[in-house]
Order: sequence, then C-alpha cells, then structure tokens
Amino acid sequence: MDDHPVLETRFNGLTRAMPSLPASWYLDAEHFAREMREIWGKTWVYLCRAEELDGPRSFRRFDVAGQPILLLRDGDGALRGFFNTCRHRGSVLCQEPEGVLKKNLITCPYHQWAYDLSGRLRATGAMRPVDGFDRDDFPLLPIAVSEWGGFVFANLDAQAEPFERLHGDETAFVANWPLAEMRVGHRFTKVLDCNWKIFWENYNECLHCPNIHPELCDLVPIYGRAIMARRDDPDWEAHADDMAPHRSGSLKSGADTWSMDGVAQGRLPGLTDDDVDAGQRYVTVMPSVFIAHHADYVRTVRIRPLAAERMAIEAEWLFHPDTLEQPGFDMARITDFGTLVMEQDGAACALNQAGLRAQGFERGVLMQEEYEVFLFQEWIRRQLGEPPLSEGNGASRASRRQARPDAAQ
Ligand code: FES
Ligand SMILES: [Fe+2]
Repeated sequence: MDDHPVLETRFNGLTRAMPSLPASWYLDAEHFAREMREIWGKTWVYLCRAEELDGPRSFRRFDVAGQPILLLRDGDGALRGFFNTCRHRGSVLCQEPEGVLKKNLITCPYHQWAYDLSGRLRATGAMRPVDGFDRDDFPLLPIAVSEWGGFVFANLDAQAEPFERLHGDETAFVANWPLAEMRVGHRFTKVLDCNWKIFWENYNECLHCPNIHPELCDLVPIYGRAIMARRDDPDWEAHADDMAPHRSGSLKSGADTWSMDGVAQGRLPGLTDDDVDAGQRYVTVMPSVFIAHHADYVRTVRIRPLAAERMAIEAEWLFHPDTLEQPGFDMARITDFGTLVMEQDGAACALNQAGLRAQGFERGVLMQEEYEVFLFQEWIRRQLGEPPLSEGNGASRASRRQARPDAAQ
C-alpha cells in the first residue's frame, strides 16, 4: 500500500485530511440494501465454527445479507452450502434453525420435492412428469463454502475467488495457533444502535482508546498514546530499537495476555516466544469478522448488520481443550476483559451513530492517524463500484499495521 498517494511512506498516516463517507450511507435503508447486495452478498462471510455442525447430515440455517442460507454436512461429512429455498415455488426448505437430517435427503415441507445432499432434485412428490420439465434443471442454488482453522465461511457468489487466495497472506500470520483444535468456551452477543461501518471505523483507529478504554490502555501501553503500532508515530525511527511496550506495542511488563490481570493461563501449543511477545495478532476478514489471537486463547468478533442503524456483535472465545480442563482455569478473567472492551466500544459506536443525522452534517473528516479508517472506506467505495478518492494500489484492503510483525493492533 506504500505507493498510495495519500498514505505517508515513512510512517503510518495520511498525508492530508480526507473526507469521510457521506452521512446518508449510515442512515438510508436503500443504501443499506445496496451494501447488503454489493458487499455482503459478494464477500466471504463468517458463519460458525466447524464444530457446530457435528457429523454427517447435520445442518444449520443462517441469514447472510438478508438471504436464507442452509449449511450442511453431506453423507461423507463434507460441508455444503445452498440457498434454503425450494426450486419448485420457492418455499423455505429447512424450518428448524439447526438439526440433523434423518436421511440423505432434504425434503420441502410444502409439496415434498426432495433433494440429495449434493443439491440434485431426486423426487417431485405427487407431481406427475410433464413436458418441458427436467429434474436436472432444478438443483438447489449453491453458495461457496470454505473452512480455515475450524472457521466456516460462505460466499453467496458460488463463483467467488477462493477464500485461501483472498485471505491466505493474512491467515499465514497466525499459522502457529492450533485453531482447528480449539473449542468455543464462551459467547457474548450484543445489539448495537449503529450502522455496521461505524463498528469497523472504530475498530480501525485508537484515537478513542485513551478516553474510552482506560483498562486496555493500561495493558497495551501504546494504545494509551492513541496509536496502534510503532510506525504510527511520525517520530518512530528515532526510537526504532526501543522495545519499551509504549513504543513496540507489546503488552505491559509482566503481562502476556488480554485478561483482567494480564497473566496467561498456560500457552497454546505451537506458539513461539515471538507469537506470545506480540501480545495480540489480528486476522480481519472484512466485512464479517475479526479474530484476535493471544497466548492462551482466541477471540472472534462477528459483525451482523441488522438494519441501517442496527447491528449485532457476536463474540466467541476459543480455548484449547487442555486449557479448559486445566485445574483452576478461570475463564471469567479472560472473558470479563473482552466483554468490558466490547461494551466500551459499543457505547462509543452508538454515540457516533446518534450524531450523524444532524442537519448540515454531510460527512466527517479523517485526520492523519485515521489511515486504517481511510483504507476501510476506500474498500467500501471500491466494493460499491464508486471511484476511490485517490489512485493507488488498492486492489485489496491490505492493512498496514497487519503486514508488519511488530505491529500492535
Ligand atoms: S415449494 Fe417446495 S415442493 Fe413446492
Ligand atoms: Fe475501541
């Protein structure tokens, strides 16, 4: 991204103030529908952990971008995804939110058309064969499904570029974490009164950190300077060898995980000292999830848009089975901390949203430190087919702080 004309090359920052997205994009139902179609309908969206579909013929229903989706395991246990819609006259197929099919067939509850688990239409109930009808022309409508590290993603565009090609560089950054072996130990869900983009914009800057997150700034001292990474400081080269946490982005001295006391309860198998010393590593699969990796656990935060001014966050804490069985393991020390930070962010997001409808407020302005917010907004414009505000290498929303091993998030 370093050839981007409005991005500083020597440090992480914007070279000039840039206009933010139009306020109407956070308020209009029509624009919301456009984003569902053009962004959420064409990107890889996190659905669930693979463990939540346990064994052949298990299924779950989802809503992705307002579309009814059915995720299932076929008779061999392979994941498959379809629109949860019968090809006859469009009835919903599976009515239960989750379950296990009794046979290797999905039978429509309306007129009994039946499909095998590859989606082929096998029977048409009481309907007689008729001219102009061929069963092979009416398979279930497929979506693309991919699994990485035990995370199941779907793309409504069945011809989408493979998940691995789009996100492989970022996931390689956390290759040492034993993600596929980890299990959900705790969940937290909260509905926020804000547009989903407000959440991501807040995620993409730390100007709010000193004011909104006192506990987090104590644990991650660089956040207390209102920046996210060493190179966010225009003067970083003068301190390039300084490994003090407020310069390097690591956790405060004596701490090695994000928790109420900062003390890790064990270490996940496979992690190196560098992995642990980083304090946190993030994988962001825009627009639906970020995954925070720590020494002894992983936290996923899924974003679900509900309406122009409403969204939900659904967090999951993943642990290694050995950690969960550890005598004296205190999960609340970990989950209380993440919940506190998410509550603080949620309140800030609602505050942001509530002010957007002021007459005369057409759009905001992005300052030097808001380079990641700018990149996010460029990504949004690009997904919507709108011209980017600046020319440059903007093929994907590569994160500057993410690309560098010593970056703090
Ligand atoms: S709508 Fe499904 S069988 Fe008629
Ligand atoms: Fe925050």
